[in-house]
Amino acid sequence: MTATAAALLNWYDTNARALPWRAPPGTGPADPYHVWLSEIMLQQTVVATVKPYFERFIQRWPTVELLANAPREDVLAEWAGLGYYARARNLHKCAVVVANDHGGVFPDTEEGLRALPGIGPYTAGAIAAIAFNHPVAAVDGNVERVMTRLHAIETPLPQAKPTVRDATEALIPSDRPGDFAQALMDLGATICIAKSPRCMLCPWQAPCKGRERGIAPDLPRKAPKAAKPVRRNTVYVHFRPDGDVMIETRPDKGLLGGMIGFPGPAWTKDPPDDHTIAHAAPGAADWQVVPMTAHHVFTHFALILTVMIAQGPPIPGARYMPVAEAATAMPTVMRKALSVAQSARNDDPS
Ligand code: ADE
Repeated sequence: MTATAAALLNWYDTNARALPWRAPPGTGPADPYHVWLSEIMLQQTVVATVKPYFERFIQRWPTVELLANAPREDVLAEWAGLGYYARARNLHKCAVVVANDHGGVFPDTEEGLRALPGIGPYTAGAIAAIAFNHPVAAVDGNVERVMTRLHAIETPLPQAKPTVRDATEALIPSDRPGDFAQALMDLGATICIAKSPRCMLCPWQAPCKGRERGIAPDLPRKAPKAAKPVRRNTVYVHFRPDGDVMIETRPDKGLLGGMIGFPGPAWTKDPPDDHTIAHAAPGAADWQVVPMTAHHVFTHFALILTVMIAQGPPIPGARYMPVAEAATAMPTVMRKALSVAQSARNDDPS
């Protein structure tokens, strides 16, 4: 093992974060089901947000078979608020494949893991390393930051990705590769942080070329990102006299697929015209436009939603849910629309 890898493992032995899916340093590997579930949740989401979701999932579905046997709608509702809902659909699909085709046992190789729904190169590497102690790289944004600084790699991302991967692989020790992968993650999350790295506390002070050259805070360099386009659309929020709110299950394909939400025109690139909007109303009612809009930023666009509200007898064929239940089972953008609708109802003097 290189002195650099040894220094990181020594640091990890006393500074590892205690995380509910993790085996403490030197005691791994951790349960593959826990590692897989946490890695899917941690894609695009920070540890602090993931912890309570992870604990609720494990409590409700202690094994991958139980998760596989759960109705998909329950899994999507439990996921609500975590975002990137394709992850939740694939999570359930993956659980079904592991339960039915692999006897409830996760494959223990990167290739085997890659073949499962929702598992890309990063996640396959992370699971292979953390759950099976294979000497493979798991390079996410945190690791890219650490490695570009360690080697003072000034090529911007994403062009630098292959170099970063090679540099990471070259460091992986054959002893404790799972701990090494997690140590790199913790270093990136707690010491080698964006903008103002805490170099005085870093076990890699000596070998770090970025620090030596005084450019660590400026790394990684990144190719400029295009500004996000803004889309506009409309949702319809209908309240029954007893206060329950009308919801629908969104089509399986497309954004927020399979999640519950409010009806309205499809969220296509072209803004819907007045005609489309009028025809997207879920039924005849005294629809009123709410002066305040709901805003949400997705990966590829920002959305401004006009909220239409009405209250009255149930719309025939529609599904209603108590507001509190809808609010916990809905994706964040729909919760925002609901809260705009609720505030307009509360303002209504009638
Ligand atoms: N980020 C992604 N995967 C992680 C893990 N297993 N532990 C901590 N942070 C992570």
